[in-house]
Amino acid sequence: MKSLNTVHPHHLKHHTGLATSTKGVRTAGTGWHALGLGLGLMLSASCFADGATIAKSGGGAVPACLTCHGAAGEGVAQAGFPRLAGLGATYLQRQLDAFADGTRVNDVMMPIAKALSVADRAEVSAYYAALPAPAAPVSVLPPTSVAAPAARPAAASVGATLATRGRWADKLPACEQCHGPGGRGVGPDFPALTGQSASYLANQLTAWKTGARPPGPMGLMAVVAKKLSEAEVLAIANHYASLPAKEDR
Ligand code: HEC
Ligand code: HEC
Repeated sequence: MKSLNTVHPHHLKHHTGLATSTKGVRTAGTGWHALGLGLGLMLSASCFADGATIAKSGGGAVPACLTCHGAAGEGVAQAGFPRLAGLGATYLQRQLDAFADGTRVNDVMMPIAKALSVADRAEVSAYYAALPAPAAPVSVLPPTSVAAPAARPAAASVGATLATRGRWADKLPACEQCHGPGGRGVGPDFPALTGQSASYLANQLTAWKTGARPPGPMGLMAVVAKKLSEAEVLAIANHYASLPAKEDR
């Protein structure tokens, strides 16, 4: 990724302690030329583009992430572009690795992830993990099969029950046991479900049923998704799309 190797002054300072070495070199009187050479060597060995630059500008074959994932990483619900802001860095990087090796199948993300170096994937994941979760719940656009007004209350209670209680007869744990209270996410491995659109969430659950998404840590989600009927997938997706991504204050 040549074009992503551009050196940014603040990055330099951060990773190499430029301020200190500048002072040292000046007093020693070896001049700027020598300094430049030294840094060049150091950087070619260890430097890569920072996450903010990849997210905002992309580079080479990599489009700027924000064109699809939003200026604050909040996603675009209507288009099926997921929220990235505030999800764990480990989780995000694992998804980029899976798109890159083709085990998570998506025509848009596979070539983008492949074009990022492993180091770039780590940097951009850390960048999005550090952004705050979006404040408002995403708009609920119920998939058509549960859109009939008469079906809505039933679907809503199915979603809420699965979310908080699961279905023990079927050894199906509550989503909250892993995804935390309100589905707001827990630690680096269990992503938030809130702040994602119903269609994105439903697509992911379906992808685990069909094998278009790798089973992930301990194969947990493939097991969960296979226990959900199609109607339950839609109900639970609508449930989480209607909840706020941040705790109410
Ligand atoms: C042209 C639009 C587009 C661009 C540009 C784009 N993405 Fe995506 N991204 C998507 C779509 C669509 C999905 C959902 C894929 C799916 O349904 O599995 C996605 C999913 C993801 C996911 C998985 C999220 C999750 O919750 O599992 C990550 C991580 C991601 N993108 C990172 C990036 C990064 C980093 C960049 C910039 C280098 C980027 N994307 C650029 C469209 C885009
Ligand atoms: C036993 C733990 C566990 C339970 C219970 C669980 N999940 Fe998950 N879930 C995970 C893990 C781990 C991941 C991350 C998978 C990966 O890294 O690929 C995940 C990821 C997801 C994702 C992908 C989010 C994204 O941004 O793409 C969705 C959607 C999801 N879970 C929905 C649910 C729903 C709905 C339930 C309840 C019916 C549920 N999960 C119950 C462990 C669990």
